[in-house]
Amino acid sequence: MRAPHFFLAAVLLGFAVTARAVDPVAESIDIHLAAHRDGRAAHSFDPSGYTGDLSALPVGVFDSGIGGLTVLEAILTIDAFHNDTLKPGPDGLPDFENERFLYLGDQANMPYGNYAKAGKTDYLRELILKDAIFLLGNRYHSEGVVHHDKPPVKALVIACNTATAYGLEDLKAAVKRWDLPVIVVGVVEAGARGLLEADSPGAIGVMATVGTCDSGVYPRTIQGTLGLAGRGVATITQQGSPDLAAVIEGDPSRKQTVQEQVAIDVRQLVENHRASQPAGNAKPLSTIVLGCTHFPLVGREIDAAFASLREDPVLAPYIAETRHYVDPAEWTARQLFRELAAAKLRRRGAPGAGEKDRLFLSIADPTLSGKRLNPDGSLTDAYKYGRETGSFVEDTLVVPMTRAALPAAGKKLVSEKLPAVWERIE
Ligand code: DGL
Repeated sequence: MRAPHFFLAAVLLGFAVTARAVDPVAESIDIHLAAHRDGRAAHSFDPSGYTGDLSALPVGVFDSGIGGLTVLEAILTIDAFHNDTLKPGPDGLPDFENERFLYLGDQANMPYGNYAKAGKTDYLRELILKDAIFLLGNRYHSEGVVHHDKPPVKALVIACNTATAYGLEDLKAAVKRWDLPVIVVGVVEAGARGLLEADSPGAIGVMATVGTCDSGVYPRTIQGTLGLAGRGVATITQQGSPDLAAVIEGDPSRKQTVQEQVAIDVRQLVENHRASQPAGNAKPLSTIVLGCTHFPLVGREIDAAFASLREDPVLAPYIAETRHYVDPAEWTARQLFRELAAAKLRRRGAPGAGEKDRLFLSIADPTLSGKRLNPDGSLTDAYKYGRETGSFVEDTLVVPMTRAALPAAGKKLVSEKLPAVWERIE
């Protein structure tokens, strides 16, 4: 009975419905949106803003945390097209020089990569839709007050591999149901397209989170992309790391150094590959997809770990002499450019002086009961992975990302490795 109820509610409230949601996660979100179409409530947006020429709106980018800032950095700095003719090739100008960006890092609910293992895939799917709704809406928190002055966005870039794996199709379907002329780009499809440029005869290794690997999204998307391009079936081996993203971020609960964790994960990838290959006729790993937002930040360490393992004659046949790395961030930036151009949504003319890029971060609601919070104010794992879908009460709050609000390790990472992003954080 729930679907007819939703349909009636949506129609009565005038919410644009072009198709009905068919699964409970989408259905409860749609009911909530239909009941709050002025965008004042948590997890809602006002669809009436989506009429007329949207080209002056910012582009929205989201990730489970600060890792997606690597994707934002790539977008801010890429020069792969001529801005006037749209032809491929650099023209000395950043491709997105006229665009403005909104970024959301859902830091309070990360790591997204571990929800599937905890049996919480639907909860993760709901979080991903809520991230997008935040970007489509006007609402955020600052200094204990709810504000409604955030502009909506004309494009949604899922900068998170895990969120793309579990949420891209949901989000594309939702944007269609909500009748929004908004572009949706996911980092995985873009990364798979990057492989078309890699003319590498060996096997492909995918390093990602456990969730991304369990979903099978990379092998599926890579084979599909190569197949459409008339290439043969690729040999692909994955390694899902439950720890590397957290170690790179400096999570105090992880005791390994980056080098130690990288060595563990690279060895595991090579061992997985070895186990899958016919003895004496192995295809060496020659292309490595860095399928987690954080991993391009430690690309040098990853390659050094492969080089060191290659010195072992037992493992050498499974590792190519030189490895080619695919960073989906760069390919996401290219895809975003192409899609904005195709939809005629590229912004014409520079933004006004007051129009700045705006970055946001989620934090645990500090008023939650002590049992739900760790001493540092973050959500406990028991609470984080114990939640159920269908609640629209905020237990995490989206606030402006400031240099002061960034966790110390994250601050170091962004300031040292992502300069274009760093200068945009207040
Ligand atoms: N951003 C995630 C990804 O690219 C990594 C961190 C997480 O698990 O939340 O898969």
